[in-house]
Amino acid sequence: MNHSLKSFSVLSESYHEDPYQYFSYLRETDPVHYEESLDSYFISRYQDVRHVLQHSDIFTTKPLSERAEPVMRGPVLAQMHGKEHTAKRRIVLRRFVGNPLEHLTPLIKDNAERLLAPYLEKGRIDLVNDFGKTFAVCVTMDILGLDKKDHEKIRYWHSGVADFITSLNQSPEDQAHSLKCSEQLANYLSPIIAERRGNPGHDLISILCTSEYEGVAMSDRDIRALILNILLAATEPADKTLALMIYHLLHHPQQMKDVLEDRSLLPRAIAETLRYKPPVQLIPRQLSQDAVISNVELKEGTIVFCMIGAANRDPEAFEHPNEFNIYRDDLDVKSAFSGAARHLAFGSGLHNCVGAGFAKTELDIVANTVLDHMQNIRLEKDFVYRETGLYTRGPVSLRILFDAV
Ligand code: HEM
Repeated sequence: MNHSLKSFSVLSESYHEDPYQYFSYLRETDPVHYEESLDSYFISRYQDVRHVLQHSDIFTTKPLSERAEPVMRGPVLAQMHGKEHTAKRRIVLRRFVGNPLEHLTPLIKDNAERLLAPYLEKGRIDLVNDFGKTFAVCVTMDILGLDKKDHEKIRYWHSGVADFITSLNQSPEDQAHSLKCSEQLANYLSPIIAERRGNPGHDLISILCTSEYEGVAMSDRDIRALILNILLAATEPADKTLALMIYHLLHHPQQMKDVLEDRSLLPRAIAETLRYKPPVQLIPRQLSQDAVISNVELKEGTIVFCMIGAANRDPEAFEHPNEFNIYRDDLDVKSAFSGAARHLAFGSGLHNCVGAGFAKTELDIVANTVLDHMQNIRLEKDFVYRETGLYTRGPVSLRILFDAV
């Protein structure tokens, strides 16, 4: 294929179908790609992306005030900086480190077992639509302390809100739908916040309700925005990573066999999946001053998108980057689930993912549970693999057959 097409666009159908085929063209020929219809630049080289993410004073998270705030109904963590950011990040982290994490571990396992059970006898499951999406929402609802009987409506509203944030060209009708979902989600949460203020438990909503910032309790608006922040940030990428990992292991039978025989390899498989196919493909930033990236001069106010997928496949950062290889030695598993990770799937710098450590635990437990119950996993014969999404990206479905254990 001739990639040096002048008409190249990240909004083209062919890019949406298979963005990976364009990454080397972009990095080598057009590393700061201007996308006219969005009046934005797309940055694809590893060093450039890392530089942008690590200089949040110059490359600010301001785009989120338009991209996220209308549906979050208040500022999200990624929009904050300085003392407020540090304090609120710490408050959120209280639910995920030390003892609270031990409480979450059985909940993750219970959700996985309960949602897999109806499919075990059938010996077939769509890992995305029958299982993964509901699993990810239910785990996040447990973290927040929400009643899982409501998981279907939460999943519906959540998906409308996520569309608003992750669409690059949403129609006015879809936008109205997203705003409606956000309103319904907010109306659902408001009485719960009031109740937790008076009668707190150990869940994250209670932690947010009882924590103070600069000696003052957070407002309902701030708490609601943080709840929506966690609901989206924790749910979207988790089910995608699970499905992507199982799919790529199925395509690498020896690596699948190794993982089945030695489950301690799972964190390697998760980390390599995140490098090879990061579920968050784009991170937007806005320049607070003029800057130069790969010899391209960018003016204050310019919007740039960091292309995480392209950066994670830059040969300057990873050897044989287009190979899925859980044994690669340029992917340090110890740091792969922290701000110090070499891959950029969790971002980098000030706003790196606050839930990365938890995501490792969650994915490790759910993958172990799936593999404990299934052997001889294979794709359904007529199954055609397709991915969707430019901003967040994952398989449309993953229909597998298996022998129940
Ligand atoms: C595989 C799973 C996950 C992936 C790939 C992922 C990816 C990311 C990325 C790329 C960012 C950086 C965004 C930016 O720089 O603008 C981020 C931030 C964030 N993530 Fe995650 N995430 C995952 C799981 C989670 C979980 C389980 C939580 C639950 C707490 C979470 C909560 C957050 C929050 C609150 C932020 C904003 C942090 C800040 O601005 O300080 N994420 N995540």
